[in-house]
Formats: sequence, C-alpha cells, structure tokens
Amino acid sequence: MSDSLSRRRFLGAAGAAAAAAALPDAAVAAPAILVRRAGRAAAVSSGNGVRAVQRAMELIAQGTDTLDAAVEGVKIQELDPTDHSVGYGGLPNEMGVVQLDASCMHGPTRRAGAVAALEGIKTPSEVARLVLKYTNHIMLVGEGAKQFALSFGFKEEDLLTPESRQLWLTWRANRGHEDDWLDVPDTEPLVKRPTGTINLDVVNAKGELSSITTTSGLAWKIPGRAGDSPIPGAGQYTDNDVGAAGSTGRGESNIMVCGGFLTVEHMRRGMKPADACLETLKRVMATTPPRLLEPNGRPKFDLQFYAVNKLGEFGAASLYPARYAAHDGSQGGLRDAAFLFQRQT
Ligand code: GLY
Repeated sequence: MSDSLSRRRFLGAAGAAAAAAALPDAAVAAPAILVRRAGRAAAVSSGNGVRAVQRAMELIAQGTDTLDAAVEGVKIQELDPTDHSVGYGGLPNEMGVVQLDASCMHGPTRRAGAVAALEGIKTPSEVARLVLKYTNHIMLVGEGAKQFALSFGFKEEDLLTPESRQLWLTWRANRGHEDDWLDVPDTEPLVKRPTGTINLDVVNAKGELSSITTTSGLAWKIPGRAGDSPIPGAGQYTDNDVGAAGSTGRGESNIMVCGGFLTVEHMRRGMKPADACLETLKRVMATTPPRLLEPNGRPKFDLQFYAVNKLGEFGAASLYPARYAAHDGSQGGLRDAAFLFQRQT
C-alpha cells in the first residue's frame, strides 16, 4: 500500500467516525471505503467480450461516458447472430420465443436500469439504459418492457435466426423419448442447455465506473424465467467509490449470493479483483444444494465473475478453468481466469 493511499484511508476512516457521531444508526452501519482515488482506464468482460472491451476502450479514450461506452461494447454481441447467448440469434425458451434480459449501473450518477423477458428487441442493453436515464424505476419486464422500447422508436423484430430456430427445433425433437416429437438422430449434444451472456465492467482514468450484463438467458428455459443478468446486485453491480463486477453462467446460483454486489463488497474491504471474484465463488459453493453437485462434490454447472476496481485493476474467476476478455488501456485480449476446480478428464 502506498503512503498516500494509507494516509487517505486513515483520514477516510477518521472522517467517517466523526460523521458517524452525528448520523442515525442505519448510516453508521455503512462500511469504510478503502479505494477512493482513480488510476487508469480498463475494461473487463466475459470470454465473448474481446470486441466489447476493445470498442469500450476506444470510446473511453475519446471521452465517452463509461456507461455509453459499455453499451456500445456489448451491442456488438447483441447484434451478432452467431453469438447464441445474447440478443439477436440468442437461443429461445422452451416455446421457441427469445426472451432477453439486461441490466446496467452508472457509477457517477448511482443509477440502475434493467429489463427482463423482453421480446422482439435486439438490444436490451439500450432499453435498460433508457430505463436508467428516463424513469424513476429500475426494472421493466415482459410486455411492458417491449411497449417502453417501442415508445422510444425501437423496431420489433424476429430474434430467431434460421440457425437458432433449427437448434431449438432439434432440442424440442430430442428432449424426451416418450413425447410425440420424433427424435432427430446424431444430435445428442443439442439436448444440453447452453448458457452464455456478456458482462462488461469499465472504468475511465477519472475513476468513473459502469457495468452492464445482457443475455438471452438459459436456453430452453421456462417462459418468463429471468436469471441474474437483469438483477442489479447479481448480474452486475457498480459502486463508484470502489469498483464494478458482473457475472456469466448459472444465474440462479449467482442470485442466491447477490454475487455482483458481494464481489464489489470484497473489493471494498481491500481484496484485489480476482481474489474478490474467487471469494464470491466460494460463497456460491457454500450455498449450493446437493442436487447441483456431482458425487465428488464439484458443481454440475459453471459460473464466472469479472471485476474492475477504481484504480483500473481487474481480474476474473470461474468455478472451472475459463478465459475472460480484458483491456488494460494499452492492449486488449483474452486472459486466464482464476478458478476453484480443475476439470476432470
Ligand atoms: N447468467 C445468465 C443467466 O443465467 O440467465
């Protein structure tokens, strides 16, 4: 720790103690803030976010607001029909309908916006940002979210591509041997339930933070199911005094620990981003019921967390080995995430 930072922390704690004497109990409970000063710009994202971190950092270098930069970054994946985990081309629910979730937080204004089970709009990240900017609410869902988007001029479109429709038809045909759909041979892997999602967390050189997560959610989900992505505090979270964090993978397991929020809280207490992500994954394991564990105690699912702090330090961690995307201000690319369990062959 540098002298200036320790002095700053000491002064911060002393100031907080003095202020606490004059505040009601609820305010006294707020923990000390360990990271206040800014450092360098950085962006961290899931493994499908190499183009997203690049785009976000280009925009941040031009002075674009961190949330606007983050939206432009994740929109690349939302509009990419080959990414079956996000936006247009995302895999549908069990009825063949694509329902999208997204949420975002803007550190400087301390605001949040979200949409869940949004149909017919390719870029839920933009709709979540509109909820953040123009309403007194945080989350809009389903038909209401769609009408809200249409009121801003979004066009309603079919989000199924020929390929994602074919994947769904194959899944429907093969999901059970006793139903009335004839099985399609040689397509067994498609019975699996892919999860994807993109999370992007960014900071500029002034220490202004934002986070965003957008997804088509769990493939073949029960209609109306919303995962962690649209929930501020779970799928993503930003505290402009500390850092930003977000997640991809099995959303239900993240919701149970409020993982975006928890990861930022770990950083508030002084943990580096990758350590904070790992600590959150340990909490996930502590709350995982036996039905989601293999006989050897390892999770049947995967989950990742990504984090950046106000200084521009970043990291990621996964239950099983995974790669994540990051840009440190000079170079972007894929890196190895920390992990809890080695995959067994
Ligand atoms: N993490 C994405 C989802 O569970 O929907």
